[in-house]
Amino acid sequence: MMKMEKSVLVLFFLAITCAITIAVEPSPLQDFCVADPTSPARVNGFPCLDPKQVKAQHFSFRGIHIPANTSNPQGSRVTPVNVVQIPGLNTLGISLARIDYAPWGVIPPHTHPRATEVLTVLEGSLLVGFVTSNPNNQLISKVLLKGDVFVFPVGLVHFQRNVGYGNAVSISALSSQNPGVITIANAVFGSNPRIEDSVLTKAFQVDKSIISRLQAPF
Ligand SMILES: *[C@@H]1O[C@H](CO)[C@@H](O)[C@H](O)[C@H]1NC(C)=O
Repeated sequence: MMKMEKSVLVLFFLAITCAITIAVEPSPLQDFCVADPTSPARVNGFPCLDPKQVKAQHFSFRGIHIPANTSNPQGSRVTPVNVVQIPGLNTLGISLARIDYAPWGVIPPHTHPRATEVLTVLEGSLLVGFVTSNPNNQLISKVLLKGDVFVFPVGLVHFQRNVGYGNAVSISALSSQNPGVITIANAVFGSNPRIEDSVLTKAFQVDKSIISRLQAPF
C-alpha cells in the first residue's frame, strides 16, 4: 500500500514538472530558426527561413540608444526589440524593449501574457510595481534609481512611473520572442466592440455615466 502511494506521488510530481516545462517557450531543435514572415505555413511562432539565406542582419537591430518621442498623453514610449524587429529571435524565447519616460510619464497598468520581465533603469528614477493574483491582490512596489533592476513575474499586472524631474530610460529583457501586451484600461474600456455596460457597471460598481467617461478616451 505504501509503495503504491509512493508511485502515485512520483507520477503526480512528474505530471506537475511536465506542466511547468510546457508553460515556457519550447527549446529550439536547431541552432536557429530565423523567422520567415512571408511563408504561408501556420505554426506556433514563425516558420524558418532557409538557413543558406540567413545573414547577420537577421540577428541585428540598430538604434536602441536613440531616445523616442514621449509627446503623448502617457508621456512614455516603448521601443520593442522582439521577433518582429529581429527575425533571428524566433524560437529563442527572449526579447528586449527600451522605454523612454518624460518627466512624470507613465507606462499604464498592463500584463505580458507570455513573459517575465527584468527591467533595468539606465537613467532617472522610476516608481514600479506589480499586483499579485486573486484573492490577495497585494501591491509589490518600489522606487528604482539608476542602475536598479526589478522583476515583473509573467502575467502579473504591472506599471512604471517616472518620479524624477528629468527624462528616464529603462531597458527590459523579456522571456519570450513575442511577450504580448495587454493594457488593462484599453482591454476593459477600449475593446472593439465594447464590453456591455451591464457587465462593466456591475464589475466596477459604478453607474453607466462613469463607464462612458472611462470609455471616452478610446
Ligand atoms: C513628437 O510627437 C509629437 C506628437 O505626435 C509631434 O508633434 C512632434 O513633432 C514629435 N517630435 C519630434 C521631435 O519628432
